Amino acid sequence: AGPCDLYASGGTPCVAAHSTTRALYSSYTGALYQVKRGSDSATTNIAPLSAGGVANAATQDSFCSGTTCLITVIYDQSGRGNHLTQAPPGGFQGPEANGYDNLASATGAPVTLNGQKAYGVFVSPGTGYRNNNANGIATGDAAEGMYSVLDGTHYNGGCCFDYGNAETSSKDTGNGHMEAIYFGTSTAWGTGSGSGPWLMADLENGLFSGVSSGNNAGDPSITSRFFTAVVKGGPNLWALRGGNAASGSLSTYYSGIRPTASGYNPMSKEGAIILGIGGDNSVSAQGTWYEGVMTSGYPSDATENSVQANIVAAKYATTSLTSGTALTAGSKISLRATTSSSNTRYLAHTGTAVNTQVVTSSSATTLKQQASWTVRAGLGNSACFSFESVDTPGSYIRHSDFTLYVNANDNSKQFKEDATFCPQSGISGSGSSIRSWNYPTRYIRHYSNAGYIASNGGVHTWDSATLFNDDVSWAISSSFA
Ligand code: AHR
Ligand code: AHR
Repeated sequence: AGPCDLYASGGTPCVAAHSTTRALYSSYTGALYQVKRGSDSATTNIAPLSAGGVANAATQDSFCSGTTCLITVIYDQSGRGNHLTQAPPGGFQGPEANGYDNLASATGAPVTLNGQKAYGVFVSPGTGYRNNNANGIATGDAAEGMYSVLDGTHYNGGCCFDYGNAETSSKDTGNGHMEAIYFGTSTAWGTGSGSGPWLMADLENGLFSGVSSGNNAGDPSITSRFFTAVVKGGPNLWALRGGNAASGSLSTYYSGIRPTASGYNPMSKEGAIILGIGGDNSVSAQGTWYEGVMTSGYPSDATENSVQANIVAAKYATTSLTSGTALTAGSKISLRATTSSSNTRYLAHTGTAVNTQVVTSSSATTLKQQASWTVRAGLGNSACFSFESVDTPGSYIRHSDFTLYVNANDNSKQFKEDATFCPQSGISGSGSSIRSWNYPTRYIRHYSNAGYIASNGGVHTWDSATLFNDDVSWAISSSFA
């Protein structure tokens, strides 16, 4: 059985079932998600390998070969047509044209399920999916349940990495107008024990870790790589439950009456569905999401426990984040541009500015050093890499506002993540393309001889699709200095 078969047996059927990694009903053979490629804007659907099975990642890999791909639709497997698509502007605007949110990279969150490769949804700040015309999702004070499988190590303090029930207007219409899973380290509303990240319920104008509006010590900091998050709510009753999605059972972090703060009892749920954003389209949060459902009715703990056992049996595991020219921490490299007009230029820096410069074996040592980088284990994720300046030890290539700089490591979480890159086989077919870890739609690119992290088409001049593949493909060799 799949998770939604278990919810149905428990009398609380799924009214939305979303996953890019697997079918959530044992008989489901339809599309899981749609990807769009950068080369020609063509789309294709990714289905399970077999009924009830893991996504056919090979279909995506061949469709997206030699270009970039975005996740455009996350289909609803419940039959109600509650698909998730690019979120529109609301109380806040997204970064894309006309205030829409960004779409996620199709390759930002690779994992395996029972040894088979699949891709999750890597939400960078600015990314969001939504359905404001959903069918059958709880409204008013009606009871519902939901769960999500998340990456417990990818989070931030921004508002709000959510999955669940939200406003149909994309605007903040008041307390109690949402009921969604939140995961992260926001301290603007509730907190739990330790320093987070925490599972909380986003009930609008408040992330709740328990019955009080502030701290509830029963809500633990999460440490597992894969995390099952559960929220459910009905008339004057709600619960927060969670557990390691790769082993063991769920714990109940809170179960009891609604918060006494005004507006949360009864609830005023509106029945839209969000992923990666707040109810008002707040877009500052990050996280990685693999699967989740919403139910009609308040699921029993026993039903949720059987869903957790099903998730554990799916055997989520990590897999490599890199490919292309192999890099070794401690070695020194230079990176040559491969675009034909620039193929004598190397990735270099002048002070804090990252640029490309023409360097040869007879260049001055100063210039050679400016174009040389020491490979380090990724400061923000040791499965990827960081690039330390050879002439300025302690300073690394990092992005800020999508522009590359060489800055001193200030040891902040933001710096470490901005300085982490995951190289892969060159998108042009040559060399390596060096993807930003925290913005996986973006790659290190030279544009007008300056350095950026660029997406293949987008709102910045340096996101231009013209020459994108060549500009993001670098020949990596031993360093000049
Ligand atoms: O409840 C927390 C957040 O507050 C909601 O997600 C958002 O709509 C509002 O800004
Ligand atoms: O470069 C994009 C973002 O801009 C970085 O993550 C952050 O440091 C800055 O706000």
